[in-house]
Amino acid sequence: MLIDSYHREVNYLRISVTERCNFRCNYCMPEKPFSWVPKENLLTFEELFAFVKVAIDEGVNKIRITGGEPLLREGLDRFIAMITSYKSDIDLAMTTNGFLLSGVAGKLKAAGLKRLNVSVDSLDAATAQKIAQKDVLAHVLAGIDAALAVGIKVKINMVPMVGLNAHEIMPIMEYARARGMTVRYIEYMQNTHADPTIRGLKSDELLAIIGSHTALIDEGFDASSPSHYYRTADGYRFGIIEPYKDDFCTKCNRIRLTAEGFLIPCLYFDEAMSIKESITRGDIAGATAVLREVVRTKPEKNRWSVESDELSTRAFYETGG
Ligand code: 5AD
Ligand code: SF4
Repeated sequence: MLIDSYHREVNYLRISVTERCNFRCNYCMPEKPFSWVPKENLLTFEELFAFVKVAIDEGVNKIRITGGEPLLREGLDRFIAMITSYKSDIDLAMTTNGFLLSGVAGKLKAAGLKRLNVSVDSLDAATAQKIAQKDVLAHVLAGIDAALAVGIKVKINMVPMVGLNAHEIMPIMEYARARGMTVRYIEYMQNTHADPTIRGLKSDELLAIIGSHTALIDEGFDASSPSHYYRTADGYRFGIIEPYKDDFCTKCNRIRLTAEGFLIPCLYFDEAMSIKESITRGDIAGATAVLREVVRTKPEKNRWSVESDELSTRAFYETGG
């Protein structure tokens, strides 16, 4: 079992398989980075899998594949099948922008993928285009339908922003509800890579908007998710992810692996340790030691909840949010 210095059990590993993306979302990667990680620096699926086995053997029972956009990495279903064949009851999910999903949903399901989170920031094609800087809506919606059709559970992520998509908070809830999907509204997390003009809605503002349409029941937190859950008067359950709340990190159970093999204790900070050297040497004891050290050094909390002028410099596209 992996326990950090604040007595939190770490059982959740997020793996970014590429930092490249085919979207340029304003809150994440509005401009193409100066340079991408050269392809030869990426860990191969075999190397990533070698670390996955270490992590599972140390107590990880939940894995999420992220990016950048993970579906840009060819043969991803092969990697998924490696993981599920090592531990068939692993809680294995992926976060995607959905653009390439319709063509591969069946293969992902067959490989053992159970759950997907897909970003839908707008149901209006022009607004979606403004946010992602690409005409994405039709492809994304088709991808979601394809995933649902093959029996993958889908959650919707929306980042509500003033003057862009804040008026779509209720329509996106209706869209998700009509298809049996949970929506999670994510507070925009300020960072130095994002469009500096963005003003995200905080959870109190979101609740005021939703609360003007329906009575709300506060359902608190699930053990396994950072979302604060609420239920509408007619029974629909949705979540809000509130990194700006002071207690956001008290139940943090996760660490992140980048496509280059850096293990990251916290989304906010730039600190990281590489597992690449030990994995490429086949040094399982070394990789285990790095994993334990990263867990040991997990900070108590992020600094979004602290009033200051300092901004997080961590690139979300390296760790998939
Ligand atoms: N603030 C909030 N959410 C973000 N995401 C990416 N960047 C940010 C940010 N700055 C979320 C998106 C997407 C997921 C990959 O990460 O909502 O669904
Ligand atoms: Fe790509 Fe996701 Fe970042 Fe958008 S949020 S640019 S889809 S990695």
